[in-house]
Amino acid sequence: MARLEGRVAIVTGAAQGIGWHYARAMAEEGAKVAIADVLDCGPGADRIARAVQGATVVPHCCDVSDQDQAAGLVKATMDRFGRLDVLVNNAAVFASLAPKRIEEIDVEEWDRVMAVNLRGVFLCARAAVPVMRAQGGGKIINIASDTPLKGVPMMLHYVSSKGGVIGLTRALARELGDDNIAVNALCPGLTLSEGVAATLESRADNLARVRGARALKRDQVPEDLVGAMLFLASSDSDFVTGQSIVVNGGDSLH
Ligand SMILES: NC(=O)c1ccc[n+]([C@@H]2O[C@H](COP(=O)([O-])OP(=O)(O)OC[C@H]3O[C@@H](n4cnc5c(N)ncnc54)[C@H](O)[C@@H]3O)[C@@H](O)[C@H]2O)c1
Repeated sequence: MARLEGRVAIVTGAAQGIGWHYARAMAEEGAKVAIADVLDCGPGADRIARAVQGATVVPHCCDVSDQDQAAGLVKATMDRFGRLDVLVNNAAVFASLAPKRIEEIDVEEWDRVMAVNLRGVFLCARAAVPVMRAQGGGKIINIASDTPLKGVPMMLHYVSSKGGVIGLTRALARELGDDNIAVNALCPGLTLSEGVAATLESRADNLARVRGARALKRDQVPEDLVGAMLFLASSDSDFVTGQSIVVNGGDSLH
């Protein structure tokens, strides 16, 4: 049997990029998937439906930084599917960010990155927890990054937001253990997502540096993250919570 048969998942920020790969893999494993994004959600859903025959994938336009929209996302998923087993908090301001020194980051940009990358995780989890608790359990998977673990410079807002995601994951895992809700973080290394690939020229030096620092010396692609995602989403990880799983080809060792 497929590993996620009968499960219902939400993947935020999944109209494109790595989130789309997570959603497709979960649909392939039998899950019904709601994909939420600020982009026109239609194309993302169509792509997944085309890629996975018989997939049930529902697009939902949602700005995760808005509490009403985050609550609406969970409600719409419940109205449609009647349950929620897995929440993947993947939406973030990332690929569009240019490297900047601390003095060049203005307060508006700092606040926007924090609002989406950290508050969005809080808001979506807050909306999902009562539903999962009432069901007797669930899984929350927060997409962090290896950048706070390595102390990557020139993206202070982004790196700080992802460090916050790791802290939130650990604290929430302890808070929700009695509800049988597992909370884990997945920390990708620099990955050739669509957004990264679109700015390949300006990132060439950085990609080469990261490639050279890895134990496994090649570029990371979205497919490299799918196995860890399915592990965290499925019953294979039922006794795993509060962890940060680093998938970066051995760039940093923990
Ligand atoms: N690509 C990498 O190198 C890398 C490395 C480590 C971590 N990550 C993380 O993995 C995730 C996906 O990365 P990616 O490269 O596909 O990023 P991306 O920037 O290409 O995609 C992020 C997605 O989130 C959506 N989004 C942005 N703001 C939103 C909002 N307010 N509400 C809902 N959706 C919103 C975007 O429209 C986009 O589809 C992100 O959390 C990112 O921080 C990426």
